[in-house]
Amino acid sequence: MNKIFVLTRKFSISTSQNAIKTVTVIGGGLMGSGIAQVTAQAGQTVTIVDLEPEILNKAQKSIQANLGRVAKKLYKDDPGKIEGFVKESLDRIKISTKVEDSVNSDLIIEAIVEKLDIKQELFNKLDKLAPEHTILATNTSSISVNAIGSGIKRKDKFGGLHFFNPVPVMRLLEVIKSDHISEDTYQTMMEWGKSVGKTCITCKDTPGFVVNRLLAPYSAEALRMYERGDATKEDIDIGLKLGAGFPMGPFELADYTGLDTNKFVLQVMHEMTKHPVFEPIPLLDKMVAEGKLGIKTGEGWYKYKK
Ligand code: 3HC
Repeated sequence: MNKIFVLTRKFSISTSQNAIKTVTVIGGGLMGSGIAQVTAQAGQTVTIVDLEPEILNKAQKSIQANLGRVAKKLYKDDPGKIEGFVKESLDRIKISTKVEDSVNSDLIIEAIVEKLDIKQELFNKLDKLAPEHTILATNTSSISVNAIGSGIKRKDKFGGLHFFNPVPVMRLLEVIKSDHISEDTYQTMMEWGKSVGKTCITCKDTPGFVVNRLLAPYSAEALRMYERGDATKEDIDIGLKLGAGFPMGPFELADYTGLDTNKFVLQVMHEMTKHPVFEPIPLLDKMVAEGKLGIKTGEGWYKYKK
């Protein structure tokens, strides 16, 4: 595909009359800030909510830097346009530490800690506070979407919007159909996904959805192969990159997404499916217990300069 076309599609500024014009993202971490960034660069107003002002501060800084990368690609010979794109996108991003003050949006996306009870509590609160028309969505990587929304009344206006890390770069969005989602809500979510430059795929509320269901066994088998001493982690990574065209090998990817996330996804998938491929991996448990979580801690399967 023509590179210019891909860039335009990836980063287009939407002028369509979507039902969604204002978005709230709850959780200002890596995923939340990425979601807020793509929303703002698509021309929509977005509020990031996090209880920690420091996290909001960090999110704003990383969004600014990443918008700069995007703008340079779009307008490489025009410093004025680069500056304008970054400023206009940033101007569309608001921050808040209070959920109560930030619910007046067409769409609210939750990207907080992967704990079922905390997510349920948040959705029950949002269901009570948000305007009637507001669609509620979770960005969970592997918890059951139906379980997360089990306590809410507006089950027809609830589903999953699962993004991939790094959000501004990865072109996929999984739209998860909860059991009671209405056709209207589902179509609106698909339209919104397109408006922020993503290619959307759909699946039921099935363990791991599409991508993590396939990535988790692949990553688990790579770890077991290394644990058994069948091959070095370096060779496994090279093998998958040069032999199968993956952008990163399984150990590099685990360091990138976090070994704690890797362990959590396997654990949840095992609870849900009981499949032996998702059984705990002692070497991974040991790494997580030692705090070697990947790039974010400076060491995982590889070492990183801080
Ligand atoms: N914002 C904007 N642009 C960014 C960016 C960001 N945060 N991060 C990287 N980029 C851009 C760079 O500017 C660069 O653009 P260019 O090619 O036009 O110069 C391009 O992306 C590539 O970046 P880099 O040159 O820095 O590095 P790489 O070429 O090594 O690519 C990568 C980095 C995009 C992360 C690539 O290695 C990759 O695709 N890795 C696989 C990632 C993956 O599998 N993600 C899914 C994880 S699973 C998940 O998220 C599910 C969850 O539930 C756990």
